Amino acid sequence: MDTSIIDKLKEIVDTNLISFHMPGHKLGKVYDKLGYSDILKNIYKMDTTEIDGTDNLHSPDGIIKKSQERASKVFKSKHTYYLVNGSTCGIQGAIMASCLPKDKIIVNRDCHQSVINSCILGDIEPVYIRPKINIQTNIIEGIERQDVIDTIDNNLDAKAILVTYPTYYGKTYDLKKICDYAHEKNMVVIVDEAHGSHLGLSDKLPKTALEQGADIVIQSTHKTLPSFTQSSMIHIQGNRVDIDKIGQILRIIESSSPSYVLMSSLDLAVDIYESKGELLMNELLLNIDIFTNDMKDNEFIDVFNEDDKTKIFISTKKMGITGYELEKILRQKYNVQVELANYYGVLLICTIGNEIEDFNIIKKALNDISKNFHSEKTIETIQYPMSIPLKVLSPREAFYKPKKRVKIYESIGKICGEYVIPYPPGISLLSPGEIITKEIIDYILLCNEKGMNVSGIKDSSLQFIEIVVD
Ligand SMILES: Cc1ncc(COP(=O)(O)O)c(C=O)c1O
Repeated sequence: MDTSIIDKLKEIVDTNLISFHMPGHKLGKVYDKLGYSDILKNIYKMDTTEIDGTDNLHSPDGIIKKSQERASKVFKSKHTYYLVNGSTCGIQGAIMASCLPKDKIIVNRDCHQSVINSCILGDIEPVYIRPKINIQTNIIEGIERQDVIDTIDNNLDAKAILVTYPTYYGKTYDLKKICDYAHEKNMVVIVDEAHGSHLGLSDKLPKTALEQGADIVIQSTHKTLPSFTQSSMIHIQGNRVDIDKIGQILRIIESSSPSYVLMSSLDLAVDIYESKGELLMNELLLNIDIFTNDMKDNEFIDVFNEDDKTKIFISTKKMGITGYELEKILRQKYNVQVELANYYGVLLICTIGNEIEDFNIIKKALNDISKNFHSEKTIETIQYPMSIPLKVLSPREAFYKPKKRVKIYESIGKICGEYVIPYPPGISLLSPGEIITKEIIDYILLCNEKGMNVSGIKDSSLQFIEIVVD
């Protein structure tokens, strides 16, 4: 057999990797623990298409309808659609169902790229809200209510507002007040809850976006609950949104052969959520409390997990190593994989698929590493450029304009033709259609020198950047 993908994945499974990353089922361990192995052993035989009895995702009236209705009841929505192309397609559906071409939508600047890509598809004009950034960790902390109110007041013609809640790092904010204010101004509230499908499982976690009044909520079930990668849900409530219009757009953008394997995994995630979710979440939160309390004894490591306690950021600053270095050591020496590394630390995503043993292993690893690898190196805080660059073309106009590559310093004052997204904190510093500034170029070159990742830009060596040809 010559199967490079399968060979590598099998090797990873055989090493019994400890997963603090997505997907939420943690390499299938939660299914084994809960007794679903027999069903899943035969999942390949359930890969089918629309035949008698299997219903149709795009006009459901049988088993898919029943399963979606159960999800709607469990997640407390008016209607729920299953998604087989991740939250990405849910965001596309939500935005294009709420805005017509040339309409404005208010979005947090640290939104996922699928938001801006939806604006390209739908010819919609994004207006940005500046996010708050913690200057010690460069973690994105969400948005300030006053900034949202000001942006709404300055753009009363916007049809909708889309916010990310919680952030990738588990930070939340008072979403209810934002929903109430946006509704007063007749705007639809779309919440990208890609990282929060588990929030309803405990009152020790932040309230869900639906509970706080959002009209449309998109969740990556696969990220924080046990379903397969790419399987997500979109929930709708209230009367501000045309449910059928969302369905119509999903029919355009999703495959006409939706995967029954993915839909089955959503069916299973709903079953686990309803029957055992609260119990498993209580156990998880207890394990997390023990872990974070124990880590307080380690003078070299700071652990942050405010708001959504299941997202744990481990700061490596006091150890004198970067998050990138810690990620590598954890994987190579301790067989532990984190969700992401940035210059200042690593992020763990913990789900109901994690066991106490996982926390014991990472605790021991971190204690060993802080003893054996700490250095005198200073991990200094690099000042992040807070100003949002001037937008002179809409994302769609910029997308369709001809582009050329120029040397990076020759691009200053020109219109950017691509995304530039440094990690941390993972916010697009430049998007297509915006004027490139010296402050931003200086910052990304410094990031590069310090070993930070800059994604989006095609030339990863950062010598060249694509600009729009006027
Ligand atoms: C905040 C946010 N929204 C949306 C998405 C897209 O989700 P999916 O991967 O399910 O398409 C992501 C993916 O990482 C994300 O981080």
